[in-house]
Amino acid sequence: MKFFVFSIILANVVLTIQAATVLETLESLKYTEYLDMVKAAGLDSKFNDSAVTWTVFAANNTGVNATLAPKHLVISNITSNATESKDIVEYTLYNHTLLSDDIKTGTTILTAVNGMNLTVVKNTTGIFVNGIMVIKPNITADKSVIYEMESLLIPPDVKL
Ligand SMILES: *[C@@H]1O[C@H](CO)[C@@H](O)[C@H](O)[C@H]1NC(C)=O
Ligand SMILES: *[C@@H]1O[C@H](CO)[C@@H](O)[C@H](O)[C@H]1NC(C)=O
Ligand SMILES: *[C@@H]1O[C@H](CO)[C@@H](O)[C@H](O)[C@H]1NC(C)=O
Ligand SMILES: *[C@@H]1O[C@H](CO)[C@@H](O)[C@H](O)[C@H]1NC(C)=O
Ligand SMILES: *[C@@H]1O[C@H](CO)[C@@H](O)[C@H](O)[C@H]1NC(C)=O
Ligand SMILES: *[C@@H]1O[C@H](CO)[C@@H](O)[C@H](O)[C@H]1NC(C)=O
Ligand SMILES: *[C@@H]1O[C@H](CO)[C@@H](O)[C@H](O)[C@H]1NC(C)=O
Ligand SMILES: *[C@@H]1O[C@H](CO)[C@@H](O)[C@H](O)[C@H]1NC(C)=O
Ligand SMILES: *[C@@H]1O[C@H](CO)[C@@H](O)[C@H](O)[C@H]1NC(C)=O
Repeated sequence: MKFFVFSIILANVVLTIQAATVLETLESLKYTEYLDMVKAAGLDSKFNDSAVTWTVFAANNTGVNATLAPKHLVISNITSNATESKDIVEYTLYNHTLLSDDIKTGTTILTAVNGMNLTVVKNTTGIFVNGIMVIKPNITADKSVIYEMESLLIPPDVKL
């Protein structure tokens, strides 16, 4: 009986974890600077929609800093511009769920939600998007999957 009750509690915990949206998962991973851009872009409710089926190429705060610091920028330089924030965030989104096993060895072109292409390379070293290495693949969030990138993807039309 005790084991049975424990199993139910455990099952509920697992269900709760699996039910986390992309927004909630990024919050729990503390990707606060990436999320600042999501909010500046007005995309937070979309990110919290459990129905989206995305592949999200995001970066943690260290990864965002790796892109901005060499250009003497901080996140507020981006979030002060909603249009730019939206362009950058939508460049990190692909409209279908791709686990790492779904990515073929070699080069794959994906059209991001902002309409621009991302070049994905999978080889014996790992997975790269526009030459930026994937640190952690397969972080699932509802029907979506998040890839932690070494730094932030910036679309070619954004001049930092
Ligand atoms: C995200 O959606 C959940 C319900 O799925 C809700 O409980 C939560 O408050 C929402 N979070 C934000 C920041 O809107
Ligand atoms: C954050 O991302 C960097 C790569 O940019 C990685 O080296 C580091 O381990 C990550 N930190 C955490 C806490 O996941
Ligand atoms: C941000 O990156 C710069 C160089 O790229 C580094 O010197 C600095 O320590 C980093 N800051 C944080 C908070 O990671
Ligand atoms: C970036 O933000 C800092 C701090 O708010 C500001 O001093 C600086 O002028 C900004 N840089 C650009 C290029 O806007
Ligand atoms: C905001 O970003 C857009 C797109 O990068 C750019 O065209 C525009 O000039 C920027 N606005 C300001 C006030 O810097
Ligand atoms: C990614 O997820 C797929 C499907 O669950 C799994 O087969 C694969 O081993 C995972 N890859 C990594 C690197 O975790
Ligand atoms: C993303 O996919 C959804 C569901 O398949 C579709 O309704 C939507 O139009 C797509 N958006 C883009 C930008 O491709
Ligand atoms: C994006 O990639 C597709 C498929 O490879 C290609 O047909 C299209 O011309 C590319 N678009 C741009 C803007 O490079
Ligand atoms: C894999 O691709 C990356 C990015 O294009 C490249 O830097 C790396 O050298 C490649 N590794 C091998 C073993 O070819």
